Amino acid sequence: MIYEDLSTQYYDIVKAHALPEEVSFYQKILKNTKGTILYGMCGSGRLLIPLLQSGFDIEGLDASSYMLNRSRERAEKEGLHLVLYKQSIDGISINKKYDVIMIVGGSFQLIYPRKNAIKALQLVKCHLKEGGKLLIDIFIPWEFLYEDREKEEFRHIVKNESGEQILFTRSCIANKHKQLFISQNTYQKLIGNRVIKMEKNKMTVLWYYHHELVLLLQSIGYSKIKILKKKLGKNPELTVYEAIRSGIFC
Ligand SMILES: C[S@@+](CC[C@H](N)C(=O)[O-])C[C@H]1O[C@@H](n2cnc3c(N)ncnc32)[C@H](O)[C@@H]1O
Repeated sequence: MIYEDLSTQYYDIVKAHALPEEVSFYQKILKNTKGTILYGMCGSGRLLIPLLQSGFDIEGLDASSYMLNRSRERAEKEGLHLVLYKQSIDGISINKKYDVIMIVGGSFQLIYPRKNAIKALQLVKCHLKEGGKLLIDIFIPWEFLYEDREKEEFRHIVKNESGEQILFTRSCIANKHKQLFISQNTYQKLIGNRVIKMEKNKMTVLWYYHHELVLLLQSIGYSKIKILKKKLGKNPELTVYEAIRSGIFC
């Protein structure tokens, strides 16, 4: 799914700032990193900007130029230099190797179909130094499994910096056997009751159970896989994993 203008504006309003517990968790995890960190699928700067402000040598990658522009704007406002790459994570090609690559904030689950997610993990491994670390997080939408809630409708209205209203509506269908839900999203910019701009997108979110993720990472060549934290953040609560690149071959 590609975030365009309105979806980026909406995301940047509702997810403007990482929670203090998230920022301090990553500050602690990353504090002994010697080289550069890459934040894959970094979005509009929610967590990237506070980590940059904390002094980490961190770069960002995202497929959406709108998200990247917003991150750049936020960094510039803080007087910070930020290196950004407009690339898809399942085709990542940067002439550099990283000490840490993080794909967090529930983003990994947006890579669809599953074979693209596997490709992303393989290519990310090739961009890590030997012994380098992947940080990845996962949530499981238990509400779709335990309750009879396979369809969900959602409506939310926010105001942007110019005082314009953005109406977000979502219709969501889950398939617990395929381990995915599909969200049909509509974003409408309103002046009074008049719609002056509309954007639609379809977001497919996959989920992975613990053993499945561990086996997947091992099969790709990651080792020492462990859970660093359960229930980080809110809506969704994320489980954060660490995996180490083993071997020298890609
Ligand atoms: C839900 S946002 C999360 C952003 C950020 N990780 C955070 O925690 O705020 C997901 C981001 O992933 C990006 N994205 C989606 N698919 C991508 C892909 N295949 N490659 C790179 N970025 C992608 C989107 O543009 C968006 O910025």
